[in-house]
Amino acid sequence: MAQFPTTRLRRMRQHDWSRRMMRENTLTPDDMVWTLVVTDKAHSEPVASMPGVTRLTVADAAKAAVEARSLGIPAIAVFPHMDASLKDAHGSQADNPDGLVAQAIKAMKDAAPEVGIICDVALDPFTDHGHDGLIENGVILNDATVERLCSQALTQARAGCDVIAPSDMMDGRVGAIRAALDGDGFQHVMILSYAAKYASAFYGPYRDAIGSAVALKGDKKTYQMDPANTDEALREVELDIAEGADMVMVKPGLPYLDIVARVKTAFALPTFVFQVSGEYAMIEAAAANGWIDGERAMLESLMAFKRAGADGVLTYFAPRAAKILNG
Ligand code: PBG
Repeated sequence: MAQFPTTRLRRMRQHDWSRRMMRENTLTPDDMVWTLVVTDKAHSEPVASMPGVTRLTVADAAKAAVEARSLGIPAIAVFPHMDASLKDAHGSQADNPDGLVAQAIKAMKDAAPEVGIICDVALDPFTDHGHDGLIENGVILNDATVERLCSQALTQARAGCDVIAPSDMMDGRVGAIRAALDGDGFQHVMILSYAAKYASAFYGPYRDAIGSAVALKGDKKTYQMDPANTDEALREVELDIAEGADMVMVKPGLPYLDIVARVKTAFALPTFVFQVSGEYAMIEAAAANGWIDGERAMLESLMAFKRAGADGVLTYFAPRAAKILNG
């Protein structure tokens, strides 16, 4: 390569047209999955720790599905906020065929069948201890939890869910869920595995959003990954692919871009990333203080995921970003 002064990289940056011409990555509404919180309360209500995010009633969630369709957002990922009185040690509501999640799936599919519905599989929104699995003497039980997760996944599939997204980090759950779905005639239902999910401080506002923050006893370090590890993420992804995952996810997002890049390079399969609640809240809080330009920070953070190799981003920004991208 020629050296300065023959080579001047600023030459190509002079004009808007030349910058656009050489742009390597683009962002479109197709890149976004709208992460949406549904509530069993009578009215939709704002989430205090996530300005701009509203817990939606089932009826409002159906309207959001219509909005997603018109914005060109391909899919919605649903997270339930349930009344504390319905929570118990086993997360009984997780596989209630008439429960909040099942109702939301049906309402959204009725309103906008063209929009994909993705459901989290994990017990934490439904347990009174706030953990993703069953507990005995303080230990999260793996195999007994996996049985519950299979039942939860089947309930979601029967309600019309398109993509099952296990976020619990139990070992062997992808294979077990695949077998359960296939055994019940749901060969067409996809699995998006939260393959490399870290025990992160950035989930704080989410636990407030779904109402599991007060409940959570202890931490999730015995099942979610250590933020210090990289090779282990590749093993997690490899196992989930072997067990039948159609797509994999890395979570959180910005603090784990190195993992996104490595996973995409190593496996070359549909790779998603979750820009989690804390990442959203940080941008919103700084913007509210006038410390950063919130809109630009939002778009820049979303572009970072594309640059790292992600095929799509689960984000609370989805509708706002899609509106801007649609002009
Ligand atoms: C639960 C789950 C979590 C998130 C998605 N599914 C939280 C957790 O593992 O404690 C986090 C989402 C976010 O922070 O936006 N299994």
